[in-house]
Amino acid sequence: MGFVIEGGGMVKVGFIGTGGIAQYHLSKLVNIKDVKLVAMCDVNEERAKKAGEDYKCPYYTDYKEMFKKEKMDACYICLPPFAHEEQETIACEKGINIFVEKPIALSMEKAKEVIEAIKKNKIVSAAGYQDRYLDIIDRLKQLLKGKKVGIVLGYWMGGFPMVYWWREKKLSGGQAVEQTTHIFDMMRNLFGEVEEVYAQGTSGIMNVKVEKCDIEDASAVTLKFKSGLVATIFSADFLDYPGKAGLDIFCEGFSIEYQERKSIKIIEPGRHEFIAVANDPGMVENEIFIEAVKTGDASKIRSPYEDAAKSLEVTLAANESMKTGKPVKVPYFNIKEAFCKDILDK
Ligand SMILES: NC(=O)c1ccc[n+]([C@@H]2O[C@H](COP(=O)([O-])OP(=O)(O)OC[C@H]3O[C@@H](n4cnc5c(N)ncnc54)[C@H](O)[C@@H]3O)[C@@H](O)[C@H]2O)c1
Repeated sequence: MGFVIEGGGMVKVGFIGTGGIAQYHLSKLVNIKDVKLVAMCDVNEERAKKAGEDYKCPYYTDYKEMFKKEKMDACYICLPPFAHEEQETIACEKGINIFVEKPIALSMEKAKEVIEAIKKNKIVSAAGYQDRYLDIIDRLKQLLKGKKVGIVLGYWMGGFPMVYWWREKKLSGGQAVEQTTHIFDMMRNLFGEVEEVYAQGTSGIMNVKVEKCDIEDASAVTLKFKSGLVATIFSADFLDYPGKAGLDIFCEGFSIEYQERKSIKIIEPGRHEFIAVANDPGMVENEIFIEAVKTGDASKIRSPYEDAAKSLEVTLAANESMKTGKPVKVPYFNIKEAFCKDILDK
């Protein structure tokens, strides 16, 4: 059973992976009362030690040893996509609630294994799709309620992250899986489940500039939703000038431009309205996760692990389509046949 903290005690939190995104979460967690950081783990000893010193707790380079020696209520798993092994399943078996950064895995088999462990051990889970907690997304949902959406364009056009694991598909999954996943996830959040995916990718720029690079420079992924809605998501990673990320939603009578993590603009005949983000989605996402760990009530978590698995599935289907040149039906990986049918059918 996942721990429920009796009588509002301290929530003991450990970390696996103490790199970029872990620091982001740590910067939020230190501002949440009742959180006690109890252990830091990173295969890079220097990083692990530094995090242990910064947050005044023991450090480890081996997560199995950390789980053996430390008691905790929740563990943040902030690993590069390829590094997910048994971190999640061991945590679940020990009743430790998990926050897993996106992409939660690189295969549906791994995701399925973790979902099973979450269910079996009644674990509170969350995935790092913080954009779901933006105040403008609540507003966007209100604006779309009952409206006819004609077509949606999504995009993540940007530069090339220079961490060593990003350039290799077997390590990162490529841009759609690793980065544009935020846009795929937002489309699912707004428009429901995807039925079919068709994708094409192109390369020739970054694999010339960057050693060992085998991921696409750009891709176009067409999605057909169960509702009948059609959308296309563009990715590009070769820009050395300012890019853009977000969605253009064309509805009957108006359109909405969502600039990722910044604003929405509502465009109607003769009227424009601009609304900027006014909250800190990372703070909200962490507060809600910690509260869920405390109370055992996960109903406010907007991106549980099982849901994040569906976004992973759509992006993996896009990879498959890029590889074969053929449309791919979702669910492609047959996860419906498993124990998680109830969740995935929702
Ligand atoms: N939600 C977001 O907006 C967002 C933003 C950035 C990154 N991310 C995601 O977070 C994940 C990590 O990205 P990052 O930017 O922090 O990467 P990073 O390379 O900065 O940090 C990853 C850390 O994990 C460590 N590590 C690798 N294998 C390990 C293992 N087996 N055990 C313990 N530690 C291990 C590395 O040494 C490194 O310190 C990625 O999946 C990425 O997509 C999410």
